[in-house]
Amino acid sequence: MNSDSMAGGGQAAGGSTTGALPITTLGAAGIQVGTQGLGCMGMSEFYGPSDLTESRATLDRALELGVTLFDTADVYGSGHNEEFLSDFVNAERDRVVIATKFGIVRKADDPAYRGFDNSPGYIRAAVEASLRRLRIDTVDLYYMHRKDPGVPIEDTVGAMAELVREGKVRALGLSEVTGAELRSAHAVHPIAAVQSEWSLFSRDVEATVVPAAAALGVTFVPYSPLGRGFLTGSFTGTADAKDFRATMPRFVGENAARNAELLAPLRTIADARGITLAQVALAWVHAQSRVRDLAVVPIPGTRSRTRLADNVAAATISLTDVELTTLEPIAGKVSGTRYADMSFTSAGRE
Ligand SMILES: NC(=O)c1ccc[n+]([C@@H]2O[C@H](COP(=O)([O-])OP(=O)(O)OC[C@H]3O[C@@H](n4cnc5c(N)ncnc54)[C@H](OP(=O)(O)O)[C@@H]3O)[C@@H](O)[C@H]2O)c1
Repeated sequence: MNSDSMAGGGQAAGGSTTGALPITTLGAAGIQVGTQGLGCMGMSEFYGPSDLTESRATLDRALELGVTLFDTADVYGSGHNEEFLSDFVNAERDRVVIATKFGIVRKADDPAYRGFDNSPGYIRAAVEASLRRLRIDTVDLYYMHRKDPGVPIEDTVGAMAELVREGKVRALGLSEVTGAELRSAHAVHPIAAVQSEWSLFSRDVEATVVPAAAALGVTFVPYSPLGRGFLTGSFTGTADAKDFRATMPRFVGENAARNAELLAPLRTIADARGITLAQVALAWVHAQSRVRDLAVVPIPGTRSRTRLADNVAAATISLTDVELTTLEPIAGKVSGTRYADMSFTSAGRE
């Protein structure tokens, strides 16, 4: 189903709506979600101090506005994010579609360390731990967060498929896989969603991942659709060493200054329409559903009800072909890679 075809009137193909958002289905899994989800990562870690009271209010408001897909991972706050979400998820279990992930391994004594494990034994232990922290019996959408180079994707998805058969997981997803890996995985068990970075600043997925998802009927869940805040114009550098962006080439030094200049076309469109830069950036991601003929459910992250409302409103803003053409050259001019180490991204393996 092409989610963008429903945008504008707020009316899904079947005639149903959820709050202010149209709805779509995650791949062939039969799970319906609003066409925009909420990324919950920043509520626990990565982008500065947490405000758990406002974050909880943001979760509740999101549901009221028709957001039903809530995105977390076992590594966000090293388990904190799943535990924080558990009250909300349990209070609204029938309405919330909860997505979590496994596969990134951290060390308590080394915050910068990232390892990867996709072995069947690890996956089983990881899902049990996520279910315990979330206090639920079944994860709605379970993602492999990163590919472990030592484990064939077929073995990983085989182990994930067992969890579906056992009722611990409803649907499967993959993050940062190449188009070829997605096709191999989908041959083992249907993949409902692929979650990878996709925004006006990060378009490497368009080479193989987007075409594979479109051909297979896999929903695309763009993460960091606001370029980790940069595309909103509100990121002006960080002095906080705990802010993850301080480790990312495009957010620091001369790169950040050069990249800020690339926001000019967004500003022109935002001013002409009386909308925000964040809304232009998100409307561009939603427009990819129409342009590339696949279901797209971006998961912008925010800890604030005001920004949430801004972001949800963007899901039904249609950019014109002229505006899309104006925005087209931006990604090709970005200075600095999306991670310092690109080897664990899909682009790093293409
Ligand atoms: N699979 C993966 O490997 C992976 C990697 C990264 C992220 N993710 C998922 O994707 C989600 C979203 O990505 P992200 O959080 O990295 O980046 P993002 O959604 O592109 O941007 C989030 C940043 O933008 C700010 N922001 C949000 N809405 C705004 C608005 N309307 N105006 C101004 N600023 C705004 C947020 O600050 P405030 O919170 O202060 O509003 C935050 O600093 C995450 O929460 C996580 O669930 C997955």
